[in-house]
Amino acid sequence: MEAPAATPAPASAVAAAEPAAAPGSDVSESSDSSDDDELDVASLKLQRVALSPAYSQLAWSRRVSTIPRRPQLKAYTLAQVAQHADPARSVWMVLRGKVYDVTEYLPYHPGGKATLLRGAGKDATKMYDQVHAFVNAETLMGPLCIGHLVPE
Ligand code: HEM
Repeated sequence: MEAPAATPAPASAVAAAEPAAAPGSDVSESSDSSDDDELDVASLKLQRVALSPAYSQLAWSRRVSTIPRRPQLKAYTLAQVAQHADPARSVWMVLRGKVYDVTEYLPYHPGGKATLLRGAGKDATKMYDQVHAFVNAETLMGPLCIGHLVPE
């Protein structure tokens, strides 16, 4: 007869769990870039936040469906985008050449506001794809698109 396991099962309060130190990451193997966009993807993923129902993904779908698309998109440089990196005012972000005003989306981001702000005022395409290339930004944020990126 086997002795029953004496150790209690880990608490199921996942949200309260300390993020475990990410051991030698097998996810982030980007090697080429020298910019400050390098992410420790494994640790970041542990930072998924519990959103209140008011800011659920469904709530965002509802909200965004009420925002009209801009009839005309403008051309912006990265320097212009960089001027919008303050959550108290406005946060813009470039994804695949499109400029989005993500200010309204901040509290709805399932990875957390602070994480989303890593891409504030930048071309966040690389970060975005490192974490969730499968997330369709155009579907989620189409009406937040305000323009496209042009060279300085
Ligand atoms: C406005 C652009 C963005 C949108 C629309 C977006 C959307 C999402 C969505 C829908 C999820 C949930 C994915 C799932 O259910 O598995 C998510 C999770 C996450 N996002 Fe984003 N995201 C954006 C930008 C970013 C950026 C720039 C970063 C990194 C700096 C980031 C980091 C994360 C992380 C760490 C998670 C949690 C991943 C996990 O639980 O596995 N996101 N995001």
